[in-house]
Amino acid sequence: MKKIILTGDRPTGRLHVGHYAGSLSERVRVQNEGGYDNMYVMIADAQALTDNAENPEKVRQNIVEVALDYLSCGLSPEKVDMFIQSQVPELCELSFYYMNLVTVSRLQRNPTVKSEIQMRNFETSIPVGFFTYPISQAADITAFKANIVPVGEDQLPMIEQTKEIVRKFNSVYGETLVEPEAVLPKRKACLRLPGTDGKAKMSKSLGNCIYLADTPDEVRAKVMSMYTDPDHIKVTDPGKLEGNAVFTYLDAFATDEHFKAFLPEYANLDELKAHYTRGGLGDMKVKRFLNEVLQSMLEPVRARRKEYEKDIPAVYEILKRGSEKAERAAAVTLAEVKSAMKIDYFSDEELIRVQKEKYSV
Ligand code: TRP
Repeated sequence: MKKIILTGDRPTGRLHVGHYAGSLSERVRVQNEGGYDNMYVMIADAQALTDNAENPEKVRQNIVEVALDYLSCGLSPEKVDMFIQSQVPELCELSFYYMNLVTVSRLQRNPTVKSEIQMRNFETSIPVGFFTYPISQAADITAFKANIVPVGEDQLPMIEQTKEIVRKFNSVYGETLVEPEAVLPKRKACLRLPGTDGKAKMSKSLGNCIYLADTPDEVRAKVMSMYTDPDHIKVTDPGKLEGNAVFTYLDAFATDEHFKAFLPEYANLDELKAHYTRGGLGDMKVKRFLNEVLQSMLEPVRARRKEYEKDIPAVYEILKRGSEKAERAAAVTLAEVKSAMKIDYFSDEELIRVQKEKYSV
């Protein structure tokens, strides 16, 4: 079976280390491992507009930011097609047909959409486009016959929805579409990285994100003010790990090599945690270590970003080429879908012949 990978992000802001932990690092790993037929990474501007209709400039400005974040993480335009969702109109056409296969009540049950509606205070005024974005996401995935979708945990309901649409489509119109599988990050802490304030999620509006493009000083300042255990007041006090954002970040990012390089008195994270919970280990020391870990992870990212920033037109050119290639692939699937749905009137000579006969008594 072919191995086709697709993922994407909404361009509503710069990407942060939560994106890196949840999906970006996995994409780079998969890319470097190779052995796939195609890999697509999509900037989901049309999806971003479903709840930013009055803010098109924000979406427009963030296209290049997200592209720079992709490139700086090590996604290579030689190995991956990076494209912009709105530049592949086939996706809208597919969405329109998939809408007939999904009920309103099924969309209402989607837990990610539910919590997003709450977060945005949309309860009484949900834009239809926003409400139906899981369907458009199914189009994004199936247009490329993607069977592997590396995403964060919050995207699982979308993949589930996509699978249902695929099964329904294939059962009604015949085997046409491919069912995708989500690929989650292996480390549990990477599934949902909390904000630096310990709140459940990193979000630009809460100001609790560490961005991939942050300077070393910004990263250090954010780490040093991170939420830990509020009851860990004196160094000698035993510290708590649950809800302690610093340790969650270490769970997500620290390796034994980091300990060797920056904190050799501990062999690994388990030893550090044991000391912390026993008491006698201060937050500052743990934070300084986390800072080293993040800086060493972000340093190559920053260096690549600097290089790409020197030639912004080339970044747009990468997206343009990627979008053209993505459109060619999506057009093939759309033609198959239309033929399966029997809306391919002009290319069906048999149809025209039969209709002609009907009228030639
Ligand atoms: N919903 C994703 C997000 O909020 C973006 C996205 C759009 C996506 N289409 C996709 C992700 C298809 C994976 C596959 O970031």
